[in-house]
Amino acid sequence: MSLCYLNGEYLPLESACVSVLDRGFLFGDGVYEVVPAYGRRLFRLQAHLERLENSLRAIRIEPPLAPPAWQEVLEHLLECNPGEDQSVYLQVTRGTYPKRDHAFADTPMPPTLFAMSSPIPEPDPALFRDGIAAITLDDIRWAWCNVKAVTLLPNALLRQQALDAGAAEAILVRDGEALEGAASNLFLVQDGVLLTPPRSNRLLPGITRDLVLELAENAGIPVREQPVPVETLRSAEELWVTSSTREIVPVTRLDDEPVGEGHPGPLFRRLHRLYQDYKQAFRRGEVC
Ligand code: PDD
Repeated sequence: MSLCYLNGEYLPLESACVSVLDRGFLFGDGVYEVVPAYGRRLFRLQAHLERLENSLRAIRIEPPLAPPAWQEVLEHLLECNPGEDQSVYLQVTRGTYPKRDHAFADTPMPPTLFAMSSPIPEPDPALFRDGIAAITLDDIRWAWCNVKAVTLLPNALLRQQALDAGAAEAILVRDGEALEGAASNLFLVQDGVLLTPPRSNRLLPGITRDLVLELAENAGIPVREQPVPVETLRSAEELWVTSSTREIVPVTRLDDEPVGEGHPGPLFRRLHRLYQDYKQAFRRGEVC
C-alpha cells in the first residue's frame, strides 16, 4: 500500500481525504509539481521547488513549507514507497473554507498540502525506436501557462483529443505559434540547430527543457530559444517533446505526416544518450 503525505501526516493513500469545501476541489485553486527520483534521490529538486514558489506567489498563496522541509517530506515518501525510481507528485491548494465563494476570505485558512509517489515504469523501447505521433491543436488554455496550476481541464481535453486521433501528444498552437505539448515542452531541429520556444506566460518553464538546453550547450550543439511558427514545425528535421516523467520523446509523425525521415533522428539519439549519462552520474552522486 502506498504512503502519502497530507497536511503534516503520513498515511495510506487509500485513506487520505480532503474536504469537499477545499478550494482545490471547488475551484481548481492550487498548484503542483512532479519531481522524478532516481535511485531514491530527487532529481533537480531545487529547480522544482523554485518553480513551485513562483506558482504559489503567482496565485497569491504564501509558500507553506521552506525547501528543506519539502525535501524532508518527499525523501520520507521515497524511503517508504517501493521503487528505486519514483515520480513524486505534490500539490498545494488554498485550503478549506466554510462556504463556497469565488473571493478569498478575509481570514486565510491553512493551505492543503498533499504529496504522493509512484514507481516510474521502464520506458517502452518502441518509444525510442519508432517515436510517437502528435497532432497540432488550438491552445484553449488560459493566459498564465507558466503557472503549474492544478486546473488541468484544457490539458486533459487536448491530450484526450490527441489519443482519440490515434496520437500520443497534442502540440498546442496559439496565434500561429507552436508553444508546447499538452503535458510537455517542445524541441525541434532545423538545419542542425536545436530550437525551442522561449520562456513566456504561454508555456511552462520545464525543468527537463532546461536540462536538455544545458546538456546540448555543454556538448557544443547549437541551440536557439525562438518563436516557432507552426509551418517551421512541419518542415522540422526532428521534433521532440520533453517532461520529467517522459524525459525526451521523439515525435516522428505530425498530423499524419512523417517528421523528417519519419524515425527518431541523430540529434535525438545524441541528446537521449547525454540525458541517460547524466542520470547515471546523478545516481552515483557525481552531479546534483
Ligand atoms: N507536466 N508543459 C506542460 C504543460 C506540462 O504539464 C509539463 C509537465 C511540461 C514539462 O515540464 P517538466 O519538464 O518540468 O516536467 C511542460 C507534468 C509532468 C505533469 O503534469 O504530470
